[in-house]
Amino acid sequence: MKVLFAASEAYPLIKTGGLADVAYGLPRALHDLDTEVRLLLPAYQDILDLVTEIIVLGGLDIWGTGRNHRIRVLETHHPAFPFPVWLIECSTLFGRHGNPYMHPHGYDWPDNAERFTVFCRAAAQLAGDALGLGWRPDVVHAHDWQTGLLMGMVETLHPRPRTLFTIHNLAYGGHFSRAVYDQLHLPWHWWSPEGVEFYGGFSMLKAGIAYADQVTTVSPTYAKEICTPQFGYGMDGLLRSRAYKLHGILNGIDDSEWNPRTDKFLQPPYGVEQVIEGKQANKKALLERYGKTVTPEMLARPLLGLVSRLVEQKGIDMVLDVIPTLLAETNANFVLIGSGHSYFEQALNNLAARFPERVFVYIGYNEALAHLLEAGSDLFLMPSRFEPCGLNQMYSLKYGTLPVVFHTGGLADTVVNATPDNTSAGTANGFVFYTPSQQALLGTLRWALSLFANNPAQWRQWQKRGMTTDFSWEQSARRYLELYQ
Ligand code: ADP
Ligand code: GLC
Repeated sequence: MKVLFAASEAYPLIKTGGLADVAYGLPRALHDLDTEVRLLLPAYQDILDLVTEIIVLGGLDIWGTGRNHRIRVLETHHPAFPFPVWLIECSTLFGRHGNPYMHPHGYDWPDNAERFTVFCRAAAQLAGDALGLGWRPDVVHAHDWQTGLLMGMVETLHPRPRTLFTIHNLAYGGHFSRAVYDQLHLPWHWWSPEGVEFYGGFSMLKAGIAYADQVTTVSPTYAKEICTPQFGYGMDGLLRSRAYKLHGILNGIDDSEWNPRTDKFLQPPYGVEQVIEGKQANKKALLERYGKTVTPEMLARPLLGLVSRLVEQKGIDMVLDVIPTLLAETNANFVLIGSGHSYFEQALNNLAARFPERVFVYIGYNEALAHLLEAGSDLFLMPSRFEPCGLNQMYSLKYGTLPVVFHTGGLADTVVNATPDNTSAGTANGFVFYTPSQQALLGTLRWALSLFANNPAQWRQWQKRGMTTDFSWEQSARRYLELYQ
């Protein structure tokens, strides 16, 4: 089975969120199940700066917005991947540093429609072996709006590969105008409510849903939620009509990157047997990063952590609202890492300035600190209003850090509330609230903090439950293989 895996980001080459983790973990797991994978990415400048060995496979002329682009297809062998990574190089479109979708000032690149249309056109050419490499995929697997058009573009190939489209987040639809559509010279017959047309403009994500043979999303609960108006972003009708080809497959997490026993960022790594000492040492290391002299009293206090893109989806406003109350009522401290909307960045910085002894903030992207936070915190805050899958709650479970989540999407599929019933059934592993409100979050955190203080033996059991659960990619990769077949 040959699979062309097309995505707009993949760890460790380029990452803005969970998609990158999936585009790293899933193809590797598929490779381990004897799938012949080629991972295809745009050759962003940061990737070109990172890779050392490059082979030029060939060049293609690809139409963009009113102009042709001469692109090069590059092959690289990166130690993170046991298969070749292919890159679409076009310096006018991809030769930029930093966030792959946004200008450093925080607005979307104005030529995003052209950039990802060119990427998809090049990918379709490769799927048709336009370079004569003797490699044709049986399946083209594409991800999110950036690769949605590809699902339509391969339809005219002979032989036609089968197609699978994975929705990682319906909130990002890749919406553009009719004028852009015309400039891109996309097929006129796609312009219909059954195709890509969306409220007068068009949606690249919709192309993926409409044209792929099979559509998946990243958790069973989110697969159901997106068929409702509340979570459907206007696509729920389309998704209901495509329910026959829609599946929810929970993401895995990569054991080589996110494993407290082997994690190179931890000080020190630890297993379930040393969870108490291990987490204490990491809590100390984490607080020391913030320049604190860590006293035993400080170590005994509960530490609540958060690592997140700072956007409304993640419920960050609710976190901001409850922190002052919890600081007044309890002895808890907070470590918060994130970047995103400047409003939230500013609000977090203000909080840290108001409570310099108890709230520690890092604005920016920091992989090492995120790992240390997972290890050093006692509770992990993830009150997302919706969450297609979510990876951080699974990382938390693995690190013995009990997640506090709203009951939605992948959070509902992975976190089991520590009620007496679930605890006696041996399934409880965290804390769940059921209304997306500040009051519900606050109530749940009060409850969790009182259990932390008063019931350490029980707490260990919940930790153990999470730490010993199998979240590996293998099971999920097998489900994808079934669909490919
Ligand atoms: P999403 O993809 O919606 O952002 P996920 O939970 O699926 O949410 O994945 C987020 C990923 O990005 C995780 O690997 C998380 O650790 C990482 N991440 C998010 N923000 C930061 C940050 N500021 N620093 C380091 N890692 C971050
Ligand atoms: C998206 C979602 C997140 C998911 C990730 C990987 O970014 O917001 O919930 O875990 O994709 O599938």
